[in-house]
Amino acid sequence: MATMLLLTFLISSLIMVTVGLAIDFMEILRLGIDGQLSVDPSDVETASLDFGLLTRGQPLAVLHPVSAQDIARVVKAAYGSNQGMTVSARGHGHSINGQAQTTNGVVIQMSGWKGGNKPPRPHVWAEERYVDVWGGELWIDVLKSTLEYGLAPKSWTDYLYLSVGGTLSNAGISGQAFNHGPQISNVYELDVVTGKGEVLTCSEDENTELFHAVLGGLGQFGIITRARISLEPAPNMVRWIRVLYSNFSAFTSDQEHLISLHAEPSNQKFDYVEGFVIVAEGLINNWRSSLFSPQNPVKISTLFPTSGVLYCLEIAKNYHESTAQTIDQEVEFLLKKLNFISTSVFTTDLLYVDFLDRVHMAEMKLRSKGLWEVPHPWLNLFIPSSKIAEFDKGVFKGILGNKTSGPILIYPMNKNKWDHRSSVVTPDEGLFYLVALLRSALDSGEETQSLEYLNNQNRQILRYCDEAGIKVKRYLPHYTTQQEWMDHFGNKWDRFYEMKMEFDPRHILASGQRIFTPTFPSLSNMPS
Ligand SMILES: Cc1cc2nc3c(=O)[nH]c(=O)nc-3n(C[C@H](O)[C@H](O)[C@H](O)COP(=O)(O)OP(=O)(O)OC[C@H]3O[C@@H](n4cnc5c(N)ncnc54)[C@H](O)[C@@H]3O)c2cc1C
Ligand SMILES: *[C@@H]1O[C@H](CO)[C@@H](O)[C@H](O)[C@H]1NC(C)=O
Ligand SMILES: *[C@@H]1O[C@H](CO)[C@@H](O)[C@H](O)[C@H]1NC(C)=O
Repeated sequence: MATMLLLTFLISSLIMVTVGLAIDFMEILRLGIDGQLSVDPSDVETASLDFGLLTRGQPLAVLHPVSAQDIARVVKAAYGSNQGMTVSARGHGHSINGQAQTTNGVVIQMSGWKGGNKPPRPHVWAEERYVDVWGGELWIDVLKSTLEYGLAPKSWTDYLYLSVGGTLSNAGISGQAFNHGPQISNVYELDVVTGKGEVLTCSEDENTELFHAVLGGLGQFGIITRARISLEPAPNMVRWIRVLYSNFSAFTSDQEHLISLHAEPSNQKFDYVEGFVIVAEGLINNWRSSLFSPQNPVKISTLFPTSGVLYCLEIAKNYHESTAQTIDQEVEFLLKKLNFISTSVFTTDLLYVDFLDRVHMAEMKLRSKGLWEVPHPWLNLFIPSSKIAEFDKGVFKGILGNKTSGPILIYPMNKNKWDHRSSVVTPDEGLFYLVALLRSALDSGEETQSLEYLNNQNRQILRYCDEAGIKVKRYLPHYTTQQEWMDHFGNKWDRFYEMKMEFDPRHILASGQRIFTPTFPSLSNMPS
């Protein structure tokens, strides 16, 4: 009892001291910042939450920066303070597990600005075919600005309301990754504010270590304030095709065949290869299925095999209206080699922009039904291709039953399109799959839709992989102990740790990833 009281007393005085000092810290910050430092409850509330709606972490203040210098001032103040103060960049807050949150510090709101001053707009270098963008720029705005020059980035995410700095801190993947690599393979140069508050330009040739560490670096080494992104001439149309399989092995061999064509000339391969799993219930609660159902809901339901699971290959070919006469032949040639259920071809032609922005349409629909701002216990796994059939048996045809609570994406990628020097971790095989279980928890009273049920199922899936010897790596990883992070990084851990000591030795940045605990210099050595 006495120790309890003492502990309570110690903790509450610690809180008082922290709050007192935090206010001094904020006074310092108010000087010399061109952006806006805010303690406005609505700003603080926004920064306390994310898309996952699973964790909450309230910062002391939110900075709306307009330059790298603004950010450098805040990080320097945190670096020089003796309060274990943290700084977390937040893009669009589309993390699942509080990765952009912090409780003892400042959130830098990189996307969506407030006030008169603004961060720099995208600058397109048309001749050189790249664009310089602010780290908080959303990909949708990058696209709009490059299209004015008839150009576009090459590698995407499925959803464009994500920030450049946020996706480059993970990898940034979609159906173009088999061909162009992830987004982190399509960046020439970065400006980064390190954990010491220095602003450094880095690239393949300059501050090379920092460049590779930051890409896929989970925000641990610096805050990306500018990225130089590679561009290509933009197509204006897309032929978007979906075909169905009931045979998983036929489905994956076709996917693997299609991505093996990456080195072929562009008229002899698809530009986009993805896929998804459809279980009976998935027809209702699936962002993707809406694309079939208006046309032909009956047909699909009659195709369900006894396993209750169908697989949909999703492929797309870019074209320009001026070259439209060859697209039919090119597509026909490619489809001829595939073994899908022949009666199940769904084709749509649409504008390139509408294709890239397709998930936003689904978002609007879900929002209108109140189904967007709900908890999202997502699980994203990279699975070695040699084990994908086992995963299918154990998970799609096993653990999931006939309930998925959201889309399940599955598509393979070529490891040789990933630079091994980046911080991201992928399986030890030349081909690996993304399996993304993008589930929404609902308070509907039905047990299988509850957060608890879905969390348990996620744990069950991970345990199954572990026991079956399927060496998965998590994408958008989330762990709570350093030992788990060491296991995640495997032989990349030593390097990751070394880079952390060099670029953020006080563990100020992105503490919401829970890889490193902020250090209190009063308990260790102050920097000289
Ligand atoms: C609907 C939806 C669809 C998605 N689709 C895809 C997809 O197709 N492919 C894919 O790869 N991912 C996808 N994602 C995941 C997405 O890439 C991650 O959520 C990622 O974190 C980007 O989101 P954000 O910009 O909001 O970053 P935040 O969640 O704000 O931040 C993510 C992490 O990066 C750090 N960070 C943010 N900005 C910076 C910066 N400028 N410099 C350094 N660190 C920074 C943060 O501190 C945090 O640790 C999707 C997410 C959602 C919600
Ligand atoms: C599934 O497809 C594979 C080819 O990938 C084939 O060998 C196998 O016989 C098919 N199985 C069934 C039940 O049709
Ligand atoms: C789904 O699974 C439940 C129990 O696991 C079963 O009762 C139900 O019939 C199944 N529904 C379909 C459409 O397969």
